[in-house]
Amino acid sequence: MTEQTFNSATSEWYYPSDDVVKHARVPDYEAMYAEAERDLEAFWGKMASNLDWYAPWQKVLDQSQAPFYKWFVGGKINIAANALDRHVKTWRKNKLALIWEGEPGDKVTLSYWRLWKETNKFANVLRSMGVRKGDRVTIYMGRIPEIMIAMLACAKIGAVHSVVYGGFSEQALADRIEDAQSKVLVTADGAWLRGNIVRLKDTVDEAVRRSPVVETVIVVKRTGHDVTMEQGRDYWYHDLMGLPIASPNCETEVMDAEDPLFILYTSGTTGKPKGVLHTHGGYSVYTSTTLSCVFDIKDEDRYWCAADPGWITGHSYIVYAPLILGATSVLYEGAPNHPYPDRWWRIVEDYGVSILYTAPTAIRGLMRFGDNWPNRRDLSSLRLLGTVGEPINPEAWRWYNKVIGKETCPIMDTWWQTETGGFMITPMPSVPLKPGSATRPFPGIKVDVVDEHGNPVPTGEDGVLVIQQPWPGMLRTVYGDPDRYVSQYWSTYDKQGWYLTGDTARKDEDGYIWIIGRNDDVIKVSGYRLGTAEVESGLVSHPTVAESAVIAIPDEVRGNVIYAYCILRTGVERSEELKDALKDHIRHEIGPIAVPAKIEFVDALPKTRSGKIMRRVLRARAQGLPEGDTSTLEE
Ligand code: PRX
Repeated sequence: MTEQTFNSATSEWYYPSDDVVKHARVPDYEAMYAEAERDLEAFWGKMASNLDWYAPWQKVLDQSQAPFYKWFVGGKINIAANALDRHVKTWRKNKLALIWEGEPGDKVTLSYWRLWKETNKFANVLRSMGVRKGDRVTIYMGRIPEIMIAMLACAKIGAVHSVVYGGFSEQALADRIEDAQSKVLVTADGAWLRGNIVRLKDTVDEAVRRSPVVETVIVVKRTGHDVTMEQGRDYWYHDLMGLPIASPNCETEVMDAEDPLFILYTSGTTGKPKGVLHTHGGYSVYTSTTLSCVFDIKDEDRYWCAADPGWITGHSYIVYAPLILGATSVLYEGAPNHPYPDRWWRIVEDYGVSILYTAPTAIRGLMRFGDNWPNRRDLSSLRLLGTVGEPINPEAWRWYNKVIGKETCPIMDTWWQTETGGFMITPMPSVPLKPGSATRPFPGIKVDVVDEHGNPVPTGEDGVLVIQQPWPGMLRTVYGDPDRYVSQYWSTYDKQGWYLTGDTARKDEDGYIWIIGRNDDVIKVSGYRLGTAEVESGLVSHPTVAESAVIAIPDEVRGNVIYAYCILRTGVERSEELKDALKDHIRHEIGPIAVPAKIEFVDALPKTRSGKIMRRVLRARAQGLPEGDTSTLEE
């Protein structure tokens, strides 16, 4: 995306209809923002009281060990009790929690009662495998109901799940298993994608060979192709769920509000992925409050967040928050354009989806197939749309609004991060919109756009996006690396409670925030988050590569693509075959999302005298732009 695309000076306003405002859960954003500003703790305390607690908290926010903030101190809670246990005591037990469709067209529906029973059974299976409170369990599967069951079962018994996105490959999975030290891994034989089988179990076998800390592998039979099962280590999910140990009654572990719920690895500025840690209490409060206000979920809604449960969007807004709110969710396994580009629109029509939440890259991808595909489907059930993951260009915004929303569905452009747990800068249905802007911060969230000294930059100018006070959904630490937590997020400015987002943004004359993109070594490809260092170390792990540098280059559909520059080892011949081999290597080691769109062999890389690669120079060169100041250039 070019910067002009986000020029707020030319932006248009979109006002919600009177009807939307009248029925919105939050009809007056300013009033709610002011309420939180008056008394932050009272505000979050009020939101927290919408949940079931085993014991109340003594203090809403403890800042005494900042930035190791504590929320709802002394409170006892379990997110699974809020997502499941409490609903089965009400009429909601018969309500659909989940409508699932597999890529080949198979369907499963689960009521709250059924989902609760299945979760209880699997929680008992995990307990019988020796999993205890605080133990880590790695989950690696496609978009099938069992991924939700596995996550909820871990939460129920107080185990900490670490879900690794099913699109990651061997080394990426092995690194994450190793860092979390998971003894149990839950996976599937395969997943369906574009009519093909993704052979998940093969990847698991190799990852576990590289990280042998795993003692037990539980395998859901999804695709049914032949897989190797290692005796004494590998068990079929359906076999275990048929045993007497899988009792449908399971006691929920009483957790402290600050006890860990999950680790989710995300890319940062070094090669080693960061284990972002979230907790039972604050995360439950934050995700459910934000979902309820922003997507305005009502009992009659059919809500579809088309992300993957393996990313934060899926954790927060497919699994936990919708269940806490007692919503009916749709989950679809496969590709948006399989077998035809109207698959998503058919799902909206078939299930009467009323709220659709997806990413700009998917919108742009589907937009390419033209208007006929969505126009042939009845999309009249939709009442709200959402987007997340990267800036949405106004052209895609307008198409989404016009062709999908028929100009009646406000678009919630939600800005947030793995680290923030939930929406941070976001409209609500009653808020006037500007295409391309995530609008203003959620009540209780204070943000600003500042320069390197922490001073606010003038309206309309680029600066660094900071969050200026803690919020309940914030990460609590980087798993096993508290120093990195402090240095990465809380130490750039000499101001207590300032969290560094890693994004560049701009604020317009109406206080609306326009996200420009990352200002660190994180690359967003199709909304997926990758670290330059991760891809570079993947390339260098190939025997022919001595050194490499990767950069992000703007792409019309995917937001960005990766360009890689490689210096080959002495004596290695440059060839097109080698480029293909390197792409294959990355596909195997990290995953298809990390494969560079282009690889170039070079003799040297532009570096500063201190040895830092000057990506700015590489980017300028790749795009044929002026290279700027190169006075510190060494090579
Ligand atoms: O650069 C921002 C971009 O995604 C980053 C966070 O990535 P991740 O942790 O993978 O979480 C993505 C899903 C919550 C941010 O630093 N980003 C996210 N949402 C938006 C966005 N950029 C612009 N507009 C958004 N709505």
